[in-house]
Amino acid sequence: MTSQADAVLAAIRERRSVKQVRPDPVPRELIEQVLEAAVWAPNHHLTQPWRFFVLTGSARDALGEVLARDPALSADKREAIRQKPLRAPVVIAVAVEPDPRRPLLDEIAAGVAAIQNMLLAAHALGLGAIWRTGRAIEDPAVKAFFGLSDRAVLLGFVYLGFPASVPEPPARRPASECTIWFDAATTAAARARALDGSSPADTVEPTSAA
Ligand SMILES: Cc1cc2nc3c(=O)[nH]c(=O)nc-3n(C[C@H](O)[C@H](O)[C@H](O)COP(=O)(O)O)c2cc1C
Repeated sequence: MTSQADAVLAAIRERRSVKQVRPDPVPRELIEQVLEAAVWAPNHHLTQPWRFFVLTGSARDALGEVLARDPALSADKREAIRQKPLRAPVVIAVAVEPDPRRPLLDEIAAGVAAIQNMLLAAHALGLGAIWRTGRAIEDPAVKAFFGLSDRAVLLGFVYLGFPASVPEPPARRPASECTIWFDAATTAAARARALDGSSPADTVEPTSAA
């Protein structure tokens, strides 16, 4: 294997969602490299639907105010919510403004791929990053904060900073447990399911690798 392949595969395996980052500012050029990596994501018809909103300093406070605006919440709860964007020195909101002529799922998928590129680039650059979602991504006031259209989909927030601590890798099911290799019997069953209407329950559990 080439050293380039080793490096890519290692980055994919070794990237972690890093919650604890230092408050130190992140140089703008590093943030720009993360964003440049994002726009090389695969994208059907190259609609480039992604939009990035980089919040640092007091911009994060403003987002916190929007998130915590509900007067029905207790003062403690509001304060906890208000503090959320301050957990990292950089918060990048990522949205897609979907091309109405294209399937929405394709547009969202491109944005999701862009976020994965950002996470991998951050890791490669020695930054810690985590993708966060929660209720905020559905909140119309948050979409208004970013000037997004009604059609836009907010995919989440990439929190970025220099890592304070990196968690152990969480356990994962091996790919073999989620994979079906099509051999002759599986293929015959698949054709029967699709063309003759036989029950899908007969054959769809992963077994062993071919
Ligand atoms: C769409 C999406 C949303 C996520 N939202 C959150 C979140 O709101 N809070 C959080 O702690 N982690 C969030 N994560 C990160 C996952 O918790 C994390 O990827 C998972 O624990 C696996 O850890 P790893 O990324 O280090 O492999 C999110 C991940 C994805 C893909």
